[in-house]
Amino acid sequence: MLVNATNMLLKARDGHYAVGQFNINNLEWTKSILLTAQEMNSPVILGVSEGAGKYMTGFKTVAAMVKAMDESLGITVPVALHLDHGTYEGAKACVAAGFTSIMFDGSHYDIDENVAKTTELVALAHDHGLSIEAEVGSIGGEEDGVIGMGEVADPAECAKIAALGIDFLAAGIGNIHGKYPANWKGLNFEALDKIHGATDNIPLVLHGGTGIPADMIKKAISLGVSKINVNTECQLSFADATRKYIEAGKDLQGKGFDPRKLLAPGADAIKATVREKIELFGSADKA
Ligand code: 13P
Repeated sequence: MLVNATNMLLKARDGHYAVGQFNINNLEWTKSILLTAQEMNSPVILGVSEGAGKYMTGFKTVAAMVKAMDESLGITVPVALHLDHGTYEGAKACVAAGFTSIMFDGSHYDIDENVAKTTELVALAHDHGLSIEAEVGSIGGEEDGVIGMGEVADPAECAKIAALGIDFLAAGIGNIHGKYPANWKGLNFEALDKIHGATDNIPLVLHGGTGIPADMIKKAISLGVSKINVNTECQLSFADATRKYIEAGKDLQGKGFDPRKLLAPGADAIKATVREKIELFGSADKA
């Protein structure tokens, strides 16, 4: 059931668990995530980066596919279709395309411009029934060619953006997209605590969910994180399972080259990763 993400995240905040955002790249990703959320009776957020949107030939294609698949599979758990790290133009395009939620990432603008653009997009999103996430303090690592420095957000700036009527807030706390380097210092819980204290209990979003140890995930949830984004980990498990299939020569046996067979181990691997995350985040049976 396609919905915006506001209620599922308020419930998560009050119930002290987090809803997973899993990024999608194609039909297999979408199907694996939807089926796993349904099996586990968990709410779920499908994240679409601007790059993945382009890859799938545009946000309209994505919205049409997700809507139709949600209906065809008889999905009854709450599902939000969410733009991940949207530009100002991308956010507007997703509202028009039928997404149910957007993220406007104005973290690279100065705070006044971030405030101005976020304010305008809050009004647009809410007029159309969408939820909206905003960001303060860019997340480290690389995402779609954009490299952030692993900033820690300033609580005063977080308070300013949270007060604009956004539904959930992403704030950098030393988290990084992609794999964490061996010398990573871990999440900055002192910063998280201050941000939580300054933002009137707004649901907080933790980006860069891949590779964060389970105890840190649990602690982040206890300090107000209600949404956790995972992307790279599904890509790694898909690639690993696909490599094993090919290395075992299975594509050369019978009709093993049929894409429905070739992509099946990867799709199953995504399911296993999503299942593990839903268990860790505590959102099973919270639909
Ligand atoms: P990872 O790729 O590190 O899991 O991060 C995902 C993310 O934060 C998407 O916005």
